[in-house]
Amino acid sequence: MPKFGTPYNILKADRTLTHEEIIRSIRFNIAAEYEAIQLYHEVIECTDNELVKTVLKDIADEERVHAGELMKLLMTLEPDEEKHYEDGAKEVEEMMKKMK
Ligand SMILES: [Fe+2]
Repeated sequence: MPKFGTPYNILKADRTLTHEEIIRSIRFNIAAEYEAIQLYHEVIECTDNELVKTVLKDIADEERVHAGELMKLLMTLEPDEEKHYEDGAKEVEEMMKKMK
């Protein structure tokens, strides 16, 4: 389970967030969405209660929508971010080609 330092303490801030603090908080929020998805799926995999499974699956899917919203926000505010993800995707594609 990811543990991150607090990127800022908004309750004590006497100013608005800097751009870098916003970027860090969005990354933190994305991680929190993925953590929530993981927690819901842990319960889904450990119960045979169909109602619980159905509701938690629906919530987990909503968390993926939230992650998508946050990713879009991150890419919009920090275009450099997308280049790093593209570089990572290319590296995997190269590995896949080597495996064929
Ligand atoms: Fe969420």
